[in-house]
Amino acid sequence: MHSTITKSQRSRGVVERYRKFLPVLPETPVISLGEGNTPLIHSTRLSQRVGRGCEVFVKNEGVNPTGSFKDRGMTVAVSKAVERGKAALICASTGNTSASAAAYAAHAGISCVVILPAGKIATGKLLQTFAYGAKIVAVDGNFDGALQIVQELGETGDFTIVNSINPDRIAGQKTAAFEIVDELDDAPDFHLLPVGNAGNITAYWAGYREFIARERSTKLPAMIGFQAMGAAPIFHGRIIENPETIASAIRIGNPANWKQARAAVVESGGAIDIISDEEILAAQKWLAQKEGIFVEPASAASIAGLFKWCDSTHSAHSFQKIREASRIVCTVTGHGLKDPDVTIGRMKELKPIAATVMDVRRAIEF
Ligand code: F0G
Repeated sequence: MHSTITKSQRSRGVVERYRKFLPVLPETPVISLGEGNTPLIHSTRLSQRVGRGCEVFVKNEGVNPTGSFKDRGMTVAVSKAVERGKAALICASTGNTSASAAAYAAHAGISCVVILPAGKIATGKLLQTFAYGAKIVAVDGNFDGALQIVQELGETGDFTIVNSINPDRIAGQKTAAFEIVDELDDAPDFHLLPVGNAGNITAYWAGYREFIARERSTKLPAMIGFQAMGAAPIFHGRIIENPETIASAIRIGNPANWKQARAAVVESGGAIDIISDEEILAAQKWLAQKEGIFVEPASAASIAGLFKWCDSTHSAHSFQKIREASRIVCTVTGHGLKDPDVTIGRMKELKPIAATVMDVRRAIEF
């Protein structure tokens, strides 16, 4: 069987593509589902919205194997867990980490335990986690409480924790920054992304710094993270006991990578800002209907943030005086099908009509 696998098939996945930048050894068994190499889509409309000859690109991480950016970190974390002989993974999750961990555990043939805040996980993500065969435990409370339990269980040595407190996760997620630099032939000037547990902003910043150190790029972007208004601990500088937002993926009140995220923002001359649930949902709809990119609500935070910075006159949080021809990348983190409830709520009932060309013409008013 193996002799029929071509080189191009073997070279798929972030470990094969960026092996020398990752903590893998020649003998590390690579557990990959072909993650990474996601599209960086130029948006004419968003570029025009910013103006001044700027260019906006959308990095669509929703097309990873389990539909989110988590797969980049999971391939490295699970490969390392298998290398170390660990038989079980554990994570807390708002849904995407659990889906990803469950899939990579299944592929590796090891078990996976996920601790989820009860009633707070989007339908598609819970479905995925179940389908991949993970052991699912729902706990009363929120993500932050679930992560605390995971950290205590992790200390027993029985499990590998695959949340973003695991440095192998961060290492894998750096590859998204590498891909952007490779595709644009340099780093962008600004990078916008949603922030929850703050692992991804930490990873992108590490990736950009690594590539400038290796002279693969000539500059570093300003890192701009967006939190939902009701779940914005970093923005407010305090733990939020009961975080609330429609964007359940980033409903987090005490991010594990808080310090690293602050460092990324300060060192890069960036910012943490907030957007409302209404702005998030409007951006989600806009991106689907104007660009053909359907993302989950949390992912639309970067696009909502871009709109806010285009309209804002607040000098520290505005693109109105942005340098000519700046390049801006917005990461969208997860696929829209994972979290369909709001969009389903907007759909009108489809009433069947007679199956004739005339009736169809009348119905579509064309
Ligand atoms: N976008 C999506 C779709 C996410 O699922 C997450 C995090 C984020 C953004 C924020 O990324 O935590 O690195 O700042 N989801 C985690 C999970 C918490 O459990 O799936 P972050």
